[in-house]
Amino acid sequence: MEAIAAFEARQLRDVLGTFVTGVTVITTRDSSGVAHGVTANSFSSVSLDPPLVLWSQSLSSRSYGAFHDSEHFAVHILADDQIEVSNHFAKSRDNKFSGVPHGRGIGDVPLLEGAAAHLECVKVAEYPGGDHVVYVGRVERIAQSGRRALAFGGGKYMVAYSHDLGPTALRLGTSKPTDLRAIQLATNALPVISTQLGEHTLCLAVWGNHGPTAVHWEPSKQPVSDQLRPGLVMSITRSATGRAFAAFLPDEMTKHLIDEDLQVSTATLGSIAGRRAEFDASMVETRSHGLARAIGSTPSAIHQIAVNAFSAPIKDAEGQMVMALSVTSDAARLGSDWDAAVPRALALAAAEISAQISCA
Ligand SMILES: Cc1cc2nc3c(=O)[nH]c(=O)nc-3n(C[C@H](O)[C@H](O)[C@H](O)COP(=O)(O)O)c2cc1C
Repeated sequence: MEAIAAFEARQLRDVLGTFVTGVTVITTRDSSGVAHGVTANSFSSVSLDPPLVLWSQSLSSRSYGAFHDSEHFAVHILADDQIEVSNHFAKSRDNKFSGVPHGRGIGDVPLLEGAAAHLECVKVAEYPGGDHVVYVGRVERIAQSGRRALAFGGGKYMVAYSHDLGPTALRLGTSKPTDLRAIQLATNALPVISTQLGEHTLCLAVWGNHGPTAVHWEPSKQPVSDQLRPGLVMSITRSATGRAFAAFLPDEMTKHLIDEDLQVSTATLGSIAGRRAEFDASMVETRSHGLARAIGSTPSAIHQIAVNAFSAPIKDAEGQMVMALSVTSDAARLGSDWDAAVPRALALAAAEISAQISCA
């Protein structure tokens, strides 16, 4: 690591950006009753006794006058499904609160809904800090929702999860250390992919002892099910995720499960020969598109509505499939066209993660 003494602002910003933070929206109300809010990641704890926190605001911020004059502010630690809220309050404009559900806290300060936690504060000090001002607040009231907090680093939104994924993945049957790094990389990428693809449920799955097994779900505001948990095993012949593994893993790894799954299916889904022919045709399609598809899956115990799904393989440096990245949505919201924007973006995202895994 080479030390740089004469650095440019951009280089300093990049270095500071390696410090991964949470994301907050800090709110206040001015003396004429107008609500103000800014996205800030400069928030930090200062002292437990007395309970003090700080954040710094740019002097060029439009709401600087409001925060400077106000006696109160509230810090909202955003949840990982609040990227839109963060982006909304990071824009300088009037009426930021119109259409944003909120209540009123101490000092009439606006309190946003849906955060991982919030802290209501009285401002006790304000220090000059170059092109910023540092506010110190005494915490008067706190609340915590149990939601996972949004993270920010390297100029990007991230998802924060605990560092104990290893044992989970091992239980699910992915024992290679490269797989664990790959899962971490892919999980980190999901919030951004979710934003790119729109409001659809995303799933990251590995090949487990019992076949295609979910390790992470990235929720959507328009969910397809309330039963999507890590560890859920999907049908290898009927789900898009299963078909991706069936098409891109070596036959000897999948053959017995495919045979078993087609047997089980016969009671409700027609003859074995018919199911086999349909499945074989889906394999030809999947390999030619580099992407698997399951269209019009009828409501089931897992999802209560008809859904469409696509799944793309994530491959390691040797070209071996290590995970499936899948998107599922209400059939009315996700079409069946292979070349539509969502499946194309999904394939691209899986290819990008594959490239990152290969370099890691
Ligand atoms: C993740 C993130 C973190 C930010 N952190 C800060 C911060 O700590 N202090 C600050 O003054 N601006 C910060 N900003 C920029 C402000 O949110 C942005 O300038 C906003 O327009 C300020 O609102 P205003 O101009 O209405 O006051 C951040 C933006 C983002 C996206």
